Amino acid sequence: MNETITGPKGLPITGNLLAFRRNPLEFIQSSAKTHGDVALLRFGPKRNVYLLTNPDQIKEVLVTKQGHFRKGKGLQVARAVVGDGILTSEGKKHLRQRRLMQPAFHRERIATYGNVMVQQGVELMQEWKDGEVRDIHHDMMKVTLAIITATMFGKSVKEGADEIGHAIDIGLKYVANKASSFIDIPLSVPTRSNRQFLESNETLDKTIYSLIEERRSSGETGADLLGMLLAARDEDDGQGMTDEQVRDEVMTIFVAGHETTANTMSWIFYLLATHPEVEKKLHDELATVLGGKLPTVEDLPQLTYTSLIVQETLRLYPAAWTINREVVEEVEIGGRMYQPGETLMMSQYVMHRDERFYENPNEFIPERFAGDLLKQIPAYAYFPFGGGPRVCIGNNFALMEAALLLATIAQRYRMRLAQANQVVEPEPLVTLRPKNGLPMRLEKRG
Ligand code: HEM
Repeated sequence: MNETITGPKGLPITGNLLAFRRNPLEFIQSSAKTHGDVALLRFGPKRNVYLLTNPDQIKEVLVTKQGHFRKGKGLQVARAVVGDGILTSEGKKHLRQRRLMQPAFHRERIATYGNVMVQQGVELMQEWKDGEVRDIHHDMMKVTLAIITATMFGKSVKEGADEIGHAIDIGLKYVANKASSFIDIPLSVPTRSNRQFLESNETLDKTIYSLIEERRSSGETGADLLGMLLAARDEDDGQGMTDEQVRDEVMTIFVAGHETTANTMSWIFYLLATHPEVEKKLHDELATVLGGKLPTVEDLPQLTYTSLIVQETLRLYPAAWTINREVVEEVEIGGRMYQPGETLMMSQYVMHRDERFYENPNEFIPERFAGDLLKQIPAYAYFPFGGGPRVCIGNNFALMEAALLLATIAQRYRMRLAQANQVVEPEPLVTLRPKNGLPMRLEKRG
């Protein structure tokens, strides 16, 4: 039997849409607090969204009963850029692609990218000057893009890297704008942004296809991510990916693996600037473990406090702040039946700041993860990378990248907010980013 599910009062036609748009994070947080395990949010006359805040129910949706769901509608826009890669594909196709790509993201495999990550961090700092104010969010976007480009294509695109970077940037901005825009102008209409987007897509296609062609004809696939994708073979039928699939997966990795990590880095530097006692402990650890040398993957097990900072930042500012699923087949979750077409929303932002699981949930306390907190709380009270068969394929990549970049940069620079007491608000677009960027003053360390 379905018990009645309640939700915040809304307007007659638009329901809760305006309240949600005004301040999405606050709105879902307060709805969760007031309405318990499930809150009904109405986004317009025909769109009901159920916000789940019981971790066991979230597990059912993402793991045990995941076959009854598909990804939310929001991702459709991303298809314009990533085609039918693992982020957007469903069912059997997703499973096959996931199997093919998994080896490229194994821990030992990605360990070989550590040097590239540190190197790109060093190159970024070559542009920095003591005392200057920079938009650190912009810089973090730049460095994570450089890292993903270098790990994807290795040495083969040294000269074209900027061009590729620029084209990808346009593609990502286009998707972000479209996802948050009220009006949907079809791609066939020659607006300035549509034209720019199509041009950048053409540049990317040309570059990626010619790289694939080069590698295929030379017979040497290479040790970078592109090489891994080209060499992948399905266990069952021995088949690899077509050129088009490889192209879609390359774009998928760019889209999924760039802004998320950049946001995380930005939030880390913001939190360090506002928590000098945490920063001090970080500096002590870096001095003890590294003694002034650049970090390597081998140092990571000793950089424990560095990793706690990353973990705690992903709790407070989860770059992926919500996961949505649409019901495709009637399903029971927590004693309630959900019907095809209904949407379930599970928000990391809400769960990660829930006082049922975290003491002083809004405080930045990296030490909270030092013990066995993750064993004490339910699995889906902390899920920055999602879960189940669609868990982030790049989670180890991202954690390693964040820790290495942090260790590389924090050894040489400290950052402070450009204006004292400046409040940096999170803006929940496709990912959770600092609203209006993150202007910070650089202070070179001794
Ligand atoms: C801190 C950084 C990151 C965060 C917070 C993050 C978070 C997530 C989350 C929550 C999902 C699951 C979405 C869902 O179930 O609807 C996901 C999927 C994915 N992520 Fe990440 N991610 C990060 C970095 C990366 C990186 C660096 C890469 C690649 C190099 C990557 C590649 C992917 C891909 C390909 C998927 C789709 C997996 C699938 O559907 O099978 N991510 N990510």
